[in-house]
Amino acid sequence: MFSSCHVVITEILPKWGVTYELVKANDKAAWEKALSKPTKAVFIETPSNPLMEIVDIRFVSDLAHKVGATVIVDNVMASPVLQKPLELGADVVMYSATKHIDGQGRVLAGALLGSFEYIYEKLIPFTRHTGPSLSAFNAWVLVKSLETMDLRVTRMAENAQTIAEFLETRKEIKSVRYPGLPSHPDHEVIKKQMKAGGTTIGIEFTGTQKDAFRFMDSLRIIDISNNLGDSKSLITHPASTTHRRLSPDVQAEMGITPSVLRLSVGLEHIDDLIKDLAQALNS
Ligand SMILES: Cc1ncc(COP(=O)(O)O)c(C=O)c1O
Repeated sequence: MFSSCHVVITEILPKWGVTYELVKANDKAAWEKALSKPTKAVFIETPSNPLMEIVDIRFVSDLAHKVGATVIVDNVMASPVLQKPLELGADVVMYSATKHIDGQGRVLAGALLGSFEYIYEKLIPFTRHTGPSLSAFNAWVLVKSLETMDLRVTRMAENAQTIAEFLETRKEIKSVRYPGLPSHPDHEVIKKQMKAGGTTIGIEFTGTQKDAFRFMDSLRIIDISNNLGDSKSLITHPASTTHRRLSPDVQAEMGITPSVLRLSVGLEHIDDLIKDLAQALNS
């Protein structure tokens, strides 16, 4: 799970008396146990950042609705192109529009989707008085970006699939976590709920953090940056950047070791990307 969401749930909300229970993404028995008691809301991130863990949205939504919970899905990693949580039973979908929706690193923005009743009776009365409003210019940039989002994400996911298959053949890589690979432990659920494997790959290096850093520094086309879903391919080291706020224990529980990297695949020519990755691995 993205670290700020983890901090909101485990550190900020409890100050208002909200209690929570964390459930392992694909542990169906744990979901059944957790959702056997009255619950207000279920928050799901699938695929997860950075290691592409998968929650079965239909399964959890059915359980949640039986106990009266609202199901909120963080659909940032899949994007609206590859996964449609409202059609799978969710009630609210959340986006960082800074990712695939903008797709070119220009705008900080977010979006929430839900029923007419949710938007007009719950969300707007709250946002109107609390300030999260987008500037007109940024809204215009995003509307223009939506015109090309489907094309961009479809091509980026094709590139990511080819790269994930390439990385699986390399001895320098201990494991590749990508929803489009048959080796993904939740491949069957993925086939049910995603149109393709997504644009982001979780990579664990065989070596140490130093080896992972040397690899990143050797890349020439792929840039080091914390964004994802961008037309430009970007690589990041979650343990020291996006997820550094989490304690080493929580990082370890999420599988974020010092040799884990997250690769967001962009729109460059696939041959150039493979060549860049190969020369960096060889170095
Ligand atoms: C899965 C996920 N959810 C939410 C966010 C939050 O995005 P923002 O920082 O644009 O609010 C991110 C950012 O990386 C993310 O990866």
